[in-house]
Amino acid sequence: MKVCVVGSGGREHALADVLGRSSDVVVTPGNAGIPGSVSETPEEIDADLFVIGPEAPLVEGLADRLRAAGRLVFGPGADGARLEGSKAWMKDLLVEAGVPTARHATFTEADPAQRFLTTMAPPYVVKTDGLAAGKGVVVTDSEEEARHTVEDYLSGAAFGDAGRTLVIEEGLTGPELSVLAVCDGTQAVLLPPAQDYKRIGEGDTGPNTGGMGAYSPVPFAGPDVLGAVMGEFIEPTLAALRRRGIDYRGVLYAGLMATPEGLRLLEFNVRFGDPECQVVITRLASDLVDLLAQAAAGRLTADPVVALEPAVTVVCASAGYPTSPRTGDVIAGLAEAGAMPGVKVYCAGVRRDEEGNLVTGGGRVLNVTALGSTLAEARRRAYEAVDVIEWKGKYVRRDVAAVAATGEEQA
Ligand code: AMP
Ligand code: GLY
Repeated sequence: MKVCVVGSGGREHALADVLGRSSDVVVTPGNAGIPGSVSETPEEIDADLFVIGPEAPLVEGLADRLRAAGRLVFGPGADGARLEGSKAWMKDLLVEAGVPTARHATFTEADPAQRFLTTMAPPYVVKTDGLAAGKGVVVTDSEEEARHTVEDYLSGAAFGDAGRTLVIEEGLTGPELSVLAVCDGTQAVLLPPAQDYKRIGEGDTGPNTGGMGAYSPVPFAGPDVLGAVMGEFIEPTLAALRRRGIDYRGVLYAGLMATPEGLRLLEFNVRFGDPECQVVITRLASDLVDLLAQAAAGRLTADPVVALEPAVTVVCASAGYPTSPRTGDVIAGLAEAGAMPGVKVYCAGVRRDEEGNLVTGGGRVLNVTALGSTLAEARRRAYEAVDVIEWKGKYVRRDVAAVAATGEEQA
């Protein structure tokens, strides 16, 4: 089978690598570090299965266009992708489906939004309605910062049209959990759970990013928790989508928080999480091509998904990320890191310079991913590989999977 992966980041490198275990893979547009990258557009490529990585082309209807041309596509159409393309639409659907989520309201005008803020207690949570590359969410204890955020979003100054509608919601607390469900329109299978590190700084400090690292499995997410995720979040959402006439074939990614009152949904994404994908699919013992092709065809046979060893991924970022990443620095040690036991280095923001060197080309540059017999071993391997990779100003969070790995060693 020939598979075409659409996208250009570390998630797409991981997809190409894992799908490539059993198929020929091309990636469009890919990047300078992903083998099989091609410059043709998805519409120009002849493949048996298309797997669309990022949210933007899904929201813009790429899956619909490919399906209209008779292609087998893993990824929702523009109708289902509204779950991620509009937080206000998503929240309405959650209420309709009875899915537990934070209390919220949607605004397009400053006065009612500011009045609503006065009824909330810290932490204040303000989100752009539209896509903002994972950076449209502000969580703050400062009412003043929340008020400024409301102004910056509604005026279009911060995120253009994406922020002219915004959602203010109740601040929740508790550990987060990412669960990715592979859906065929009617049924779903869960992939192993993961935990993501969203903030730039150690100890979950500083601004939100696209994700600084991830690990899987998550010790607190045992079979009971996953059963609840399926029964209370995934299935009711798929049913509500169906009631709206939406045939959702792709990943339904539940971003959850385990609050003292129980699990709550923070958001749905309509694609594999980045960097959660890197750990989740690297662990799979079952064939990913088969699973995604079944879902794309609307007939999941729902074999249980078998996972191998624990995995940890650490994002190596450019100096200045997420505000103003510095680019163009030569990356050294990548081949050496990739040859270490259990390690895969996935390339995200990279390009070639005029001399042909691989250089930093974005904020999140590499995802160093390692399997190990325990989380502690996977973590140790990932950081050993991170340490042989060098460029000027390379930044990593040092605490990815630290708590989970320590808990495991004490158990
Ligand atoms: P989202 O893109 O909606 O998942 O938000 C990004 C991050 O902001 C989440 O991973 C959480 O860390 C944080 N967040 C989102 N919503 C809330 C909330 N209601 N309460 C507390 N933190 C939140
Ligand atoms: N890692 C979070 C996301 O993919 O949205």
